[in-house]
Amino acid sequence: MEKNFTFIIMGVTGDLAKLKLIPAIYKLLKLNTVAEAALIGVARSENTIQAILAEAKKNIREVDEVVWQKLCNSAYYERLDFAELDDFENLKNKIVAVEEKHGLSHNRLFYLATLPEHFEVATVNLAKVGLVNSKDDKWERVLYEKPFGDSLHSARQINKEIDKVFLEENVYRVDHYLGKELVGNIALLRFTNRVLEPLWSRVHIDSVQIICDENFGIKNRGNYYDKYGAVKDFLQNHILQMLSLVAMESPKLISGEYLRNEKVRVLKKTKIVDILLGQYEGYENERGITPGSKTETFFAAKLLVNNRRWRGVPFFVRAGKNLTKKETVIHIRFKAVDCLLAKSCPADNNYLTIRIDPNEGFSLELNSKSLRKGFEVETVDMDYSHNSVHGVNTPEAYEVLLEQAVLGEQALFVRNDEVELAWKIVDRIDFKKLEVYKYPVGSSGPLELTDWNKKNNIIWKS
Ligand code: BG6
Repeated sequence: MEKNFTFIIMGVTGDLAKLKLIPAIYKLLKLNTVAEAALIGVARSENTIQAILAEAKKNIREVDEVVWQKLCNSAYYERLDFAELDDFENLKNKIVAVEEKHGLSHNRLFYLATLPEHFEVATVNLAKVGLVNSKDDKWERVLYEKPFGDSLHSARQINKEIDKVFLEENVYRVDHYLGKELVGNIALLRFTNRVLEPLWSRVHIDSVQIICDENFGIKNRGNYYDKYGAVKDFLQNHILQMLSLVAMESPKLISGEYLRNEKVRVLKKTKIVDILLGQYEGYENERGITPGSKTETFFAAKLLVNNRRWRGVPFFVRAGKNLTKKETVIHIRFKAVDCLLAKSCPADNNYLTIRIDPNEGFSLELNSKSLRKGFEVETVDMDYSHNSVHGVNTPEAYEVLLEQAVLGEQALFVRNDEVELAWKIVDRIDFKKLEVYKYPVGSSGPLELTDWNKKNNIIWKS
């Protein structure tokens, strides 16, 4: 158990803090992962921590009032403009005063829950007032929420500024998918099961599908979303992270740099070979959207990983807003076996499906003998449901990530070279040359997807 630390959320008035970060810190206190934590919420507007905490509390199920009160008693608000150095001096004084008042050690976790355009200036100013890079045995760590920049160029620029003032070991780039239980399980599932690992290559795998469908729109995030779009919001980060976990070679250990080194090797060999874009009808009327916007809210793409293990195996990925359902799932499609049987030949391909959300778990489709039909074959499912084994206590991704950051473990965070490689892959798309096809809200995407699927020889598994 880590003794104590101060959690400084920069951008505390945003949804992320209220929906995820404050509930996560509450949970760490409740589970005794940390004994004491002070919270300093920072944002530009005039505000009170009480108002912010009241909002955040609505997002916690079955609040333990004793623990909640403990958090409230050591929570503060500090107004700050990222561009004002004096405000950072005030923040520093506040942190020192709070630490003294609550008898906390000098352990500090800064969370930049803001848009990336503020990362550089905030980084520089944190360093200028001496808020990061302790020389003693205390720690100061900075977490950067995704997206990390909006292109290779901007990510490099931010990394360059960070590199000047912080040690990489204090830098934690967040992709919350890495904190999801079933994403964390991908490497374990592969490398600890002799029944899977020998089959895990182009010799036996026919194709991979990564599907991230959502049945809601852009919510209140028009200003952000219209500048980014689905590819930069989902493919550059969550999908490429999952893809690299599926495709990587076995790391020496599933921790620290070993894991990140292997993911980087995959990203170096990955490229997008075809992509189709869509936009849901009515997107243009949402708040914060430029009239006539061509920003995509849907994509389907084919990627290849050009190495010995995966050469020729397509990775089909798809994500979109306002589709029929919310589902994040990875399907590994194995090659069909040779025809051995007179009937039902060829038998269906086996699928290993990793369900990230909802109903976390995985299942393996196998071919089996049908009842009373001679040697006809039918597909049966071997299914593992996470909740039925562990109950409904699966930790939220942000809880896992905060805990790892407090422990100083960086494996679940994105390294500087990793984030740049992911941008390089996405930056190769020439958006101006691509048509953006409309699709109705609640549909499976644009009609043009049917031809695209045919052309790429893909049948999405439903
Ligand atoms: C975020 C994206 O990173 O992930 C959102 O910005 C998306 O657009 C969200 O809705 C999905 O996360 P989850 O955990 O709900 O699958």
